[in-house]
Amino acid sequence: MPPYPKHLVKKLTLADGTPVTLRPIRAADAKIEQQFVRSLSDESRYFRFMDMLRELSPQMLKQMTQIDYHNQMALIAVTPSHNYEVQVAVGRYVVHPNGEDCEFAIAVSDGWQHHGIATELMQLLIAAARARGLKRMIGEILASNSKMLHFVRGLGFHLAAVPDDPRQLRAMLVLKPA
Ligand SMILES: CC(C)(COP(=O)(O)OP(=O)(O)OC[C@H]1O[C@@H](n2cnc3c(N)ncnc32)[C@H](O)[C@@H]1OP(=O)(O)O)[C@@H](O)C(=O)NCCC(=O)NCCS
Repeated sequence: MPPYPKHLVKKLTLADGTPVTLRPIRAADAKIEQQFVRSLSDESRYFRFMDMLRELSPQMLKQMTQIDYHNQMALIAVTPSHNYEVQVAVGRYVVHPNGEDCEFAIAVSDGWQHHGIATELMQLLIAAARARGLKRMIGEILASNSKMLHFVRGLGFHLAAVPDDPRQLRAMLVLKPA
């Protein structure tokens, strides 16, 4: 099993005092990851997966929780609820076969949006990709997803048309190794 990247664990306190922890996903998080995906609104799930899926297949769930933290990184945001942890967001990247670029995706539970969680998660994900020596972070975003387009512009991503697909835009951030 690859070593757990403990340096990517970050504790936050939201403006209303709610504690949230950002941390790399583990195989043991399969249940909360599935619950998170099921809890997303149809619109958020569609924006994230560009598909009408309602939940992750066992194979997708395995791929998304059993990762090597090198060619794939996933950071989840969790908050305590009674004696459990509830997952409220996830951001991930997968390294492109060219070894220089990575493709990212992010989603925050509908009821937890606009509290700065995606901003914190993306900043940590970008720092991890930079430290890994990657050169560019790229994401395909539906042209109708104005919230996400606005969000990534604010993080410094550049947007460009996707040739032959007017439904999507490509967001790209040049990562300068630290
Ligand atoms: C797009 C998305 C990831 C943004 O997540 P989010 O957690 O709401 O993002 P943030 O809270 O960090 O930032 C959003 C806004 O909240 C504001 N905000 C930041 N901190 C805040 C705080 N403490 N209190 C209130 N608002 C805050 C930000 O300023 C930002 O506003 P602005 O866009 O006007 O500048 C989220 O809407 C989402 O998951 N959408 C569905 C899935 C999706 O579209 N994924 C993209 C496919 S890759």
